[in-house]
Amino acid sequence: MNTPIIAPSILAADFSRLGAEIAAVPDADWIHVDIMDGHFVPNLSFGHDITAAVNRVTDKPLDVHLMIENPERWVDNYIDAGADCVIFHVEATDDHVRLAEHIRSRGVRAGFSLRPGTPIEDYLADLEHFDEVLVMSVEPGFGGQSFMPDQLAKVRTLRKAIDERGLEIIIEIDGGIGESTIGLAADAGVDAFVAGSAVYGKADPNDAVLKLRELAER
Ligand code: DX5
Ligand code: ZN
Repeated sequence: MNTPIIAPSILAADFSRLGAEIAAVPDADWIHVDIMDGHFVPNLSFGHDITAAVNRVTDKPLDVHLMIENPERWVDNYIDAGADCVIFHVEATDDHVRLAEHIRSRGVRAGFSLRPGTPIEDYLADLEHFDEVLVMSVEPGFGGQSFMPDQLAKVRTLRKAIDERGLEIIIEIDGGIGESTIGLAADAGVDAFVAGSAVYGKADPNDAVLKLRELAER
């Protein structure tokens, strides 16, 4: 296994001081950017202008998670804002392969995510079109929810398919990841770990990043 990737979610950061909050996690690998439109999910976060502002204050890759309807209409705004990987939900599009091809054609990594109730089996045949798969271990929409251990079966299925076919796709997990759950996810075969409250809810966010990476490595 490669070194685990830790991606703090700025959804849990103090939005009034985003620059300082990002500077507070120098050992993070990526910055996870949660985009919620109030339609695909009941909550609203922020959009591409804030994403561009985030990109101006960090050199770290931006892992942009679009929890929005009609992602076809918006992906270019997030690519222009500086996304390194654009992740859309398969439930929000009729043509996930075409959208992935478009994202890649713009020189950006493409990812898809699935709600907990969406089976992975329907998408295994199309893995070649993607650089990342984001497994949701909570119902998308809010930070600070409890980890759903049943989603690890999805991770194991993906791990097996990716390894058997020799693909270079990162499996990322999002929701309820913290000190007590990150090891379970790592054992199941996760490469990248999103953590919101388990990083920004701590007095020392960078210390939390280091601790999480250490626990994932074990
Ligand atoms: C949830 C978001 C997550 C969220 C994770 O819909 O996609 O990225 O910020 O928050 P925690 O780590 O607190 O569960
Ligand atoms: Zn997310």
